[in-house]
Amino acid sequence: MRFFDSHAHYDDRRFSNEFPGGVDAALRYVFSQGVTRICDVGASLRSSNEALGMADFYAGQEGYPSICASVGLHPCDALEVPDIMTADVLDEIRTLAAHPKAVAIGEIGLDYHWDEDHHDRQKTMFDLQLSLAEEVKKPVIIHDRDAHGDTCDILRAHPNATGILHSYSGSPEMARQLADKGWYISFSGPVTYKNAAKVKEACVIVPDELLLIETDAPYLPPVPHRGKMNHSGYLVHTAEIMAEIRGVTAAEIAELTYRNACRVFGLSDN
Ligand code: NI
Repeated sequence: MRFFDSHAHYDDRRFSNEFPGGVDAALRYVFSQGVTRICDVGASLRSSNEALGMADFYAGQEGYPSICASVGLHPCDALEVPDIMTADVLDEIRTLAAHPKAVAIGEIGLDYHWDEDHHDRQKTMFDLQLSLAEEVKKPVIIHDRDAHGDTCDILRAHPNATGILHSYSGSPEMARQLADKGWYISFSGPVTYKNAAKVKEACVIVPDELLLIETDAPYLPPVPHRGKMNHSGYLVHTAEIMAEIRGVTAAEIAELTYRNACRVFGLSDN
């Protein structure tokens, strides 16, 4: 079995501070577990730069996964950009997006769980980054937490945007509508949780060619590792549950999602 973890944050300080041996050991370990490709997802300018740096550093290194990166501002990080800096920050993302290892703009979107007071600012930054993705012709990686209605409204205003709904948490109906428009839908640890009936239902609906798997490591560990730090080696647990839900094998989920991730990111799948 080979896995493509379509969304992880190995630039996160938890890997350097808490994983025995740090990031390098974590990457070597997950490679030994069959994870041969990872998209390291930027959330801020700092992490976008670090994701690209890591992708360059590990390029062609034997015994490590091949890493690609996405660049962009997570809705919570976007709030730290003062209005007056907006154009400069977007220019910087545009520059980062031209890096050969940058395969997507993200993660961008809306998070009404952690931020209840600045929805308009979040929407503006989401909208601007979607326009940027359309301009540079890259897919987007979307973070939508407790903001399903507004996320869909903003996506409708960007008919040329394509990409991924990451760590999907919306309704089955919304998954169907997004899939009809060609959006990829990515499932993470929460699909393994007992109380995740709706997410499981959504996982059934997504057509084979739009299905993705991810960890969002170091966050969102799957059952039976809840409470621990997540890493891509735990993908197999998520794959097993997705396989059970869809009536296939975990190996089929691994291979299908691997090829889909290559396609959405514009990478060859060998
Ligand atoms: Ni993430």
